[in-house]
Amino acid sequence: MTWRKGFLRKANSVTIFTTVVSKNQSLLNGVEAGNANPRDIRPEDYELIDSLSDKLRHLINYAILAPSTHNTQPWLFRVSDKSIEVLADRSRALAVIDPDDKGLAISCGAASGMLAIALSAVGFQFHVAHLPDSYEPDLVSRFRITDQVKPEADWKDTLTKIRLRRSVRAGFKNEALSDSSLLHLQLSERYDDCHLKWVDSVEQEKHVLDAILKTEKDRQFDKHYLRENASWINPIRVRSRDGIPANVGKMPSLSQLWAPAISFNEQNERITRLSIVETMGNRPIQWVRAGFTMANALIHSSKTGLSSAIVHHPLYIPEIQSKMESVLTHGYTAQILLRFGHAEHAPSTPRRSLVEVMMHPGFRH
Ligand SMILES: Cc1cc2nc3c(=O)[nH]c(=O)nc-3n(C[C@H](O)[C@H](O)[C@H](O)COP(=O)(O)O)c2cc1C
Repeated sequence: MTWRKGFLRKANSVTIFTTVVSKNQSLLNGVEAGNANPRDIRPEDYELIDSLSDKLRHLINYAILAPSTHNTQPWLFRVSDKSIEVLADRSRALAVIDPDDKGLAISCGAASGMLAIALSAVGFQFHVAHLPDSYEPDLVSRFRITDQVKPEADWKDTLTKIRLRRSVRAGFKNEALSDSSLLHLQLSERYDDCHLKWVDSVEQEKHVLDAILKTEKDRQFDKHYLRENASWINPIRVRSRDGIPANVGKMPSLSQLWAPAISFNEQNERITRLSIVETMGNRPIQWVRAGFTMANALIHSSKTGLSSAIVHHPLYIPEIQSKMESVLTHGYTAQILLRFGHAEHAPSTPRRSLVEVMMHPGFRH
């Protein structure tokens, strides 16, 4: 219960009154105002909203829960009548580790992907266009709502999966993967030039992971890299709603999560599986599609009880891309590596609230 003070204005006087409001009511008010922590949003909150634009606005909370590089959350949103736009917020770019804004574009693609999953779950049909306006390069995705049908049967579960997803940081459990969990991970392909590719052979997997691990050593001496990391992965910054605070656990070192040795347990059962989001072409449009595809893989895998770890930055290194050629589809570029397995439910990274990421509807760059 929380106490709330209010003012009643009569002709010439002001009366102060105090009411008791339930926690649910105060949360709901926060949800409506867009001040709520997106992590606290429940599927039931959606059912209480009447107007179309308020529903669309509310569903942006699920986009905000997408993964992003160093949890920078480099996105903004614009909602108008029957449309939602996802925009890149380049003030949150990571100049050292992500000089071309590739990770930023992937993150915005992931936010668009989470939004698409949430919209579909509650029954919205839509067209989505990526980078639709060459005069506005920061406009990453534009969703146009075309119809509203019945919610999917498991819509509440889907929204809850988005809310509870988090990147694995403390390592995977020793639990064997079942065949059925892997079968469910076959995603329907949305794009001709971007898809999820499984790394099937053990030799290929070792080849990729060994190459990735080599990058870790070199970066320990790069002071620009270390400084940028320190500004986002900061144990002191407990209260801010971005970055990776101390209570979530340190960013895992590459060797903790990406060592080839963690693919099998002592019984020689497979406990993790590796996949690559690969694209034909290596331009912003493919980066956005890679993020979108990743979001689908993350939520589909969580529906089978799997958790996931993401790595991207080592793939910038041309030497690594060339080492991976034998694993990739001919002519494709690796954009993201995903590792799936069972993991303990980890503490969550923070998120900014809806009001902090909304752009004025009329604003153009
Ligand atoms: C493009 C991209 C690259 C990422 N690279 C890494 C990485 O190299 N290592 C890592 O531990 N996490 C990586 N992550 C995961 C982010 O750190 C994580 O999404 C962010 O801190 C938010 O936490 P959450 O995913 O648990 O919500 C990456 C995420 C994205 C979208």
